[in-house]
Amino acid sequence: MACAYFGLDCKVFMVKVSYEQKPFRREVMRTYGASVTPSPSMETEVGKKILAAHPGTTGSLGCAISEAVEVATTTEGYRYVLGSVLNQVLLHQSVIGLEAKAALDKYGITPDIIIGCAGGGSNLGGLIAPFMGEKITKGADYRIIAVEPASCPSFTRGKYAYDFCDTGMVCPLAKMYTLGSNFIPAPNHAGGLRYHGMSSTLSQLYDDGLMEAVSVPQTAVFEAAEQFARIEGILPAPESSHAIRVAIDEALKCKETGEEKTIVFGLTGTGYFDLVAYEKFHDGKMDDYIPTDEELAASFATLPVVE
Ligand SMILES: Cc1ncc(COP(=O)(O)O)c(C=O)c1O
Repeated sequence: MACAYFGLDCKVFMVKVSYEQKPFRREVMRTYGASVTPSPSMETEVGKKILAAHPGTTGSLGCAISEAVEVATTTEGYRYVLGSVLNQVLLHQSVIGLEAKAALDKYGITPDIIIGCAGGGSNLGGLIAPFMGEKITKGADYRIIAVEPASCPSFTRGKYAYDFCDTGMVCPLAKMYTLGSNFIPAPNHAGGLRYHGMSSTLSQLYDDGLMEAVSVPQTAVFEAAEQFARIEGILPAPESSHAIRVAIDEALKCKETGEEKTIVFGLTGTGYFDLVAYEKFHDGKMDDYIPTDEELAASFATLPVVE
């Protein structure tokens, strides 16, 4: 989702697949006065271009960003704010990391593993900020794991390169792990993780070997979500459930080896607007699309050449 806004007048470009899969989220925004357009749309020049290049596409965050930026830059008084990826968003999210660290310190607990889902990287960047600081400056021994969908594996199968932050190539270049701004992920239900790139800061930390990344298929994610909901009573968002999957996997490894570890993970949202996804999972209608090497190679071929 990407929005251009002017005061309370808000125009939202919602990734087409999310617009269809998450009708309640769309209606909440409309209730508060936003106009919501499925992206890519014929309302913008860049949307028309994307639709011509990818007819029938279900969209991606990269497409929605291009459209919102076009509206914001061509409409008097409008502004656009990117909701993830950039450092100011990680900085805002660091409140979560600081609070988590303060709570752990209060009880004298040192985590062994810190896990977060990664779409553009903002919740993970914020959660790990104080722990990563200690790792870099004091040699603290935290294992930090980013979890991404197997259908959009920016860290685990992407290239570390300069790329556009959006599909329409109107935003500046950033050095990041990327699948190519032309990559349009399969319509996975974790819409917030369907972004081709990754925060530059997290990309650097990953490239320096200071954190790990794993990718997980969505049915395994929903199995974890269901288990978590039944035990904790909280219905998690599909995005957050990526972190839950890997937290459970790490806990199961401990069970096997008999080790005791403290595992912290980020629960970024609830899944009450994602019940269409839960319905698909319960009815056995959810699939696990994983891009082929050839698909990724075709997208890497469109990366900008930077001297
Ligand atoms: C509930 C939820 N969690 C996580 C994310 C992932 O975003 P980021 O990687 O920027 O934290 C999103 C993105 O929309 C989201 O909606």
